[in-house]
Amino acid sequence: MTRPSIAFVAGARPNFMKIAPVLRAVEELKPDFDPVIVHTGQHYSAELSDIFFEQLGIRTPDVHLEAGSGTHGQQTARVLEAFEGFLLRESPRIAAVMVVGDVNSTVAATLAATKLHIPAIHLEAGLRSFDRSMPEEINRLATDAISDLLLVSEPAGEENLRREGVPATRIRYVGNVMIDTLVHHLSQTENQNFGRPDGPFALVTLHRPSNVDQRESLTAIVDFLIEIAADLAIVFPIHPRTKNRLEEFGLLAHLEKNPAIHLFPPLGYVENLGLMRNASVVLTDSGGIQEETSYLSIPCLTLRENTERPATLSYGTNTLIGGDFAKARRLVFEILNHSYRKSSPIPGWDGRAAQRVVRELSGFLEKRDVISSIFQEHL
Ligand code: UD1
Repeated sequence: MTRPSIAFVAGARPNFMKIAPVLRAVEELKPDFDPVIVHTGQHYSAELSDIFFEQLGIRTPDVHLEAGSGTHGQQTARVLEAFEGFLLRESPRIAAVMVVGDVNSTVAATLAATKLHIPAIHLEAGLRSFDRSMPEEINRLATDAISDLLLVSEPAGEENLRREGVPATRIRYVGNVMIDTLVHHLSQTENQNFGRPDGPFALVTLHRPSNVDQRESLTAIVDFLIEIAADLAIVFPIHPRTKNRLEEFGLLAHLEKNPAIHLFPPLGYVENLGLMRNASVVLTDSGGIQEETSYLSIPCLTLRENTERPATLSYGTNTLIGGDFAKARRLVFEILNHSYRKSSPIPGWDGRAAQRVVRELSGFLEKRDVISSIFQEHL
């Protein structure tokens, strides 16, 4: 009998950090399946894709679907169609599909697989912001509703899924693979300065449509950055979506001419981690960065009204500031005075989540084999 394969689907920057440790754990544990890497091409620029493959040591994808940018409908549809074609060509070698995170590629690949009766396994399941205006929330709800196995990264995830009526047999708490990646690469950031300024600095990352797509909200954020730049330097690697909007709204020049504000292109994983661990504070709207700062015990102020990662608030260093810049200013002051709270450990955020994922993947395939052989016997 040929060995079964599991397609690992990744499309956008935060996905690559999640599949890398699982691929490493496969090498280490040598389970009874082969991973097939599928890059959907949602992110295609070298700085949002290639550098992550290089730095995270992910081998060249086995297949590239070249979905590219577009509206949500276009992007999702392109991945759906191309991934379905791949599954049809490769069937029956692909025994299951593993999707990660909450991007358009995640939901599209899950739909394609489940409609072909190929089981889908969702890694980082159960996260909920309870804000359906976020495209990622729709992706999470839809993906979890149709996936066969739900691998959960944070305590609230299990609770959310149970509340939605998901039976316990479909849920497994595995912990957070993003932290595996962080633990694995942390030593590479030692004794390097990655172009950071002397003295305390804030690291800023922004890309959510709710912050950057409206002139009013982006202007308020830029004003706040210019204000706090009087007290501490700002390091701001700019996501392409944000760069486009800053230019469109005539805001980029205000940042560029401020000597305390250091603008960078999007950074590689190691550079970003190196800056993050040395920052006094991180201002962000990213999901993953809320988790990474919590693990590193670096204060994080999140420019959102909600988070799907509440463990970062209760155990971690994260505070939601939404659009309340007076609160943000008070907290920056507290942080610079070293009176901001420290973090405590989060269950399963221990650098070994990927091994647990691989055991779950193996167990899932084994159980399916047993069920299908019982079924065959009764035919
Ligand atoms: C996507 C994810 C988001 C994730 C983020 C990480 C969805 C709905 N959103 O948002 O959850 O946190 O990735 O970065 O899936 N662009 C480039 N090069 C690229 C890709 C995009 O320049 O390689 C530009 C294009 O102008 C594009 C814009 O960035 O229109 C937005 O890209 P897109 O993938 O649509 O969404 P993100 O904002 O990156």
